[in-house]
Amino acid sequence: MDFRLNEKQLELQAKVRKFAQERLLPTVVERDNKGEYPTELYKEMGAMGLIGLPYPKEFGGQGEDYLSYAIAIEEISKVDASLGISYSVSTSLYGGSVMNSNATDAQKKEFLPDVLQGKAWGSFGLTEPNAGSDAGGCVTTATKDGDGYVLNGLKCFNTNGPLADYSAVFALTEPELKAKGLACFVVKKGTPGFSVGRIEDKMGIRQAQVSELIFDNCRVPESAMIAPTGQGFKLAMKALDGGRIGVAAQGLGIAEGAFDTAVEYMKTREQFGKPIFKNQYLAFKMAELKMEIEAAKLMLYKAATDKDTGAPYGESAAMAKYLCTNAAMHVTTECVQFMGGNGYMKGYHVERMMRDAKITQIYEGTNEIQQLIISGGIFR
Ligand code: CAA
Repeated sequence: MDFRLNEKQLELQAKVRKFAQERLLPTVVERDNKGEYPTELYKEMGAMGLIGLPYPKEFGGQGEDYLSYAIAIEEISKVDASLGISYSVSTSLYGGSVMNSNATDAQKKEFLPDVLQGKAWGSFGLTEPNAGSDAGGCVTTATKDGDGYVLNGLKCFNTNGPLADYSAVFALTEPELKAKGLACFVVKKGTPGFSVGRIEDKMGIRQAQVSELIFDNCRVPESAMIAPTGQGFKLAMKALDGGRIGVAAQGLGIAEGAFDTAVEYMKTREQFGKPIFKNQYLAFKMAELKMEIEAAKLMLYKAATDKDTGAPYGESAAMAKYLCTNAAMHVTTECVQFMGGNGYMKGYHVERMMRDAKITQIYEGTNEIQQLIISGGIFR
């Protein structure tokens, strides 16, 4: 076992860390306040080659490994978790759906390069008002009509929804088969009958754009189908296995961002005539948080390595998602407390990180769903 990152991964980590400090940090509080999506900064990430990191060059990717991609999300999310999830959804959920599907090379060349180069956004349309944790309960339909399909239904909580040029949409071609009747289609922005519904007003990840997607007699060609009837649910699950590594990396980044902020604060903030870290109570608490972060990080890097080496990774991704996102919630809550009144104020960053952390325990499968997946593996 090698616990060290290789030289290329270290270089990438340094490059993304510098970008996050120089380009994201100066404006992140203001962008969070306004709930404004930073289109240009995302495009800069695209130009740096980040969005397509783990996918083949022939489809617009960089041909690197998934661990490198996890490291990049971690570094972005240390500073800006909204961009972290927007990035992860384009890459793992949309990109992962197309890459793992039955799409031909011609379809991949049509649907991937713009997203993987950060010139366009991808989204993932699985969740519906009555199909959240029970993802197989979707009722959106795709009815065969001549040489295409007509989609009807509503998807919700769709990250990147209002931005997405391409959406992977799971719909029933054979509704009587329930989850086994699901197929997957790529629907392009501007397709008649396809529109963005309510845009959500959220507690955290305020800049991320999350919305409903509405399909009202939306006609797509046969070539939009990337997974045939019966393969849609499995494709969604596979994309989510990869997506959970992205969310784990986001959670880890949030935890580390808050931890690093608290460390600096504790070194300079003086009370009772000494820097507050000299209180052993606080120093020991920080030691505990450090261990929690390191353990979560090892699990995340293992899950990414499992994926990179062709080992099964669904359960390790679930474990990484559970540990990293719980660490995000715990570490950020503690850091707000350790930083006292200042910690509660916007300019000190940790309150935003605490708000951003909460959703990581919920989306791409609640942490209770991760426990279901992990316990399923134990007792299979
Ligand atoms: N990979 C491949 N196939 C899989 C799989 C996986 N990871 N998991 C299950 N399958 C297959 C099973 O083998 C089974 O196949 P057969 O029918 O051939 O036997 C089939 O799928 C059904 O499996 P289950 O019976 O286990 O399915 P289930 O209905 O019990 O559901 C679940 C399992 C794990 C609870 C699943 O529904 C789930 O993951 N729920 C959470 C959904 C989720 O994460 N939603 C987030 C959406 S995205 C989002 O958050 C928004 C965003 O934009 C960020």
